[in-house]
Amino acid sequence: MSEPVLLITGASSGIGAATARHAVEQGYRVALAARSAAKLDALVDELGGADKAFAVSCDVTDKDSQQQMVQSTLAHFGQIDAVFANAGIGGKPGGFCGADSDVWKDMILTNVYGVGLTIQCCAEALKQSRGHLLITGSAAGRTTIPGSMYSATKWAVSAIGYGVREELRGTGVRVTLIEPGMVDTPFFDDQPEHALTDGDIAEAVLFSLSRPASVDVNEILVRPTPKIED
Ligand SMILES: NC(=O)c1ccc[n+]([C@@H]2O[C@H](COP(=O)([O-])OP(=O)(O)OC[C@H]3O[C@@H](n4cnc5c(N)ncnc54)[C@H](OP(=O)(O)O)[C@@H]3O)[C@@H](O)[C@H]2O)c1
Repeated sequence: MSEPVLLITGASSGIGAATARHAVEQGYRVALAARSAAKLDALVDELGGADKAFAVSCDVTDKDSQQQMVQSTLAHFGQIDAVFANAGIGGKPGGFCGADSDVWKDMILTNVYGVGLTIQCCAEALKQSRGHLLITGSAAGRTTIPGSMYSATKWAVSAIGYGVREELRGTGVRVTLIEPGMVDTPFFDDQPEHALTDGDIAEAVLFSLSRPASVDVNEILVRPTPKIED
């Protein structure tokens, strides 16, 4: 049987790139989607070239771009067994009352609309493969963060995960929400203290993928262990 194919959005850095590395180590072929073509091409080379990895430029806020992502992945690998809808961006300070509201547009389009489009564009391929949909939510989509539109987008992602799982009930497609706490990635301008690594989250993704088809890991919330207090 051919190696399973995992399509990852937001694969050019951080959690998405780490997941691609772990997935190839564990026998997957990967389709890498993001806007930064040069970073994706470098990752394809690192992962062993065209038999193992395929780069596809995609802006998740654009439906044509996402449709093209799916079509070109199917043309290259012939199948899609799992999709990791992971692309996302953060916000800016200021709260609901004072933040630059223009920043919200890109964030809502990327984090919410983009995830919706990924699901819509990949649904047929996943139904055919009886595959696995994983979505990057956040611990911020599980707790109240004062004034955070980013947190609101991730609450929406949590709801998408719950809703699409019910919509796909009976198709054999499994749905897993991956909900990281703080992870040290380029998501942050300054390196965060006391954070998880991108590999910690990749391992949660690969754990979910490795379960038998009869096991649907609904969600995994992973946070750094609190600092030891003396
Ligand atoms: N780091 C954390 O503490 C943390 C915690 C919880 C959840 N998360 C979530 O984890 C996910 C990955 O973030 P990360 O921490 O790995 O940050 P990152 O290193 O900044 O990665 C973000 C990825 O999303 C891609 N992306 C952004 N906008 C896009 C667009 N319009 N179209 C296509 N790709 C786009 C970026 O690629 P291009 O710029 O090349 O397009 C990049 O590959 C996000 O959904 C984030 O909200 C992060």
